[in-house]
Amino acid sequence: MLADTQSMMTPFPKLPHISILTIALFLVIAFGLLLVLTKSAAAEAPLGPVTLPPIAITPVDAEKGRELFVSKACVACHSVNGVGGKAAPILDAAAGNQDVDILDFFARMWKGADAMVILQRRELGYSIDLTASEIGDLAAFASSLEHQQGFSMEDVPIYLRDWFVDDPKDWGEELPRFNQ
Ligand code: HEC
Repeated sequence: MLADTQSMMTPFPKLPHISILTIALFLVIAFGLLLVLTKSAAAEAPLGPVTLPPIAITPVDAEKGRELFVSKACVACHSVNGVGGKAAPILDAAAGNQDVDILDFFARMWKGADAMVILQRRELGYSIDLTASEIGDLAAFASSLEHQQGFSMEDVPIYLRDWFVDDPKDWGEELPRFNQ
């Protein structure tokens, strides 16, 4: 009986039954592993020289900046040549750098943005909107002695002269710095 059974057996060990599903699963896992490995290898590869896309430089126009200084009502709080409100820092070119540094101008505005937005809403009834090129123009005007030279009260329409804020003492408790 035993001999019979043995003679029926194949001489080779029987391979486990591998279904197509198991093979597919194996392939998916292997492919996934390969992907992970190649990705981490790529992440570790040293970077070659990195080239940035060209940096956009907005053309600036100091004459337009001079008009914007009035039409955007910056003049209500800031002065140039002694013309304008006295409550905010003066924007005389002589007081600052002579180079037109738009980013620096914007960084200074950004630093004062918190206070400016609150005060503009209070004094003007809205917060001033500016495009990139308008900021560039205003920065150019703020840096140009030449364009500031002739700036006088004549440049400011009469109705705007009433908006000048000279005394920051009523700028409220949320701005104690300006209320001393
Ligand atoms: C309602 C008043 C008001 C108006 C209008 C206003 N500002 Fe200001 N601005 C301020 C005050 C106040 C500060 C100082 C804020 C601070 O120090 O926190 C300031 C700060 C700045 C600064 C930084 C100055 C420095 O050297 O620290 C710049 C630049 C500036 N404003 C530009 C402008 C321009 C450009 C406009 C018009 C588009 C404008 N501001 C309109 C009140 C105003």
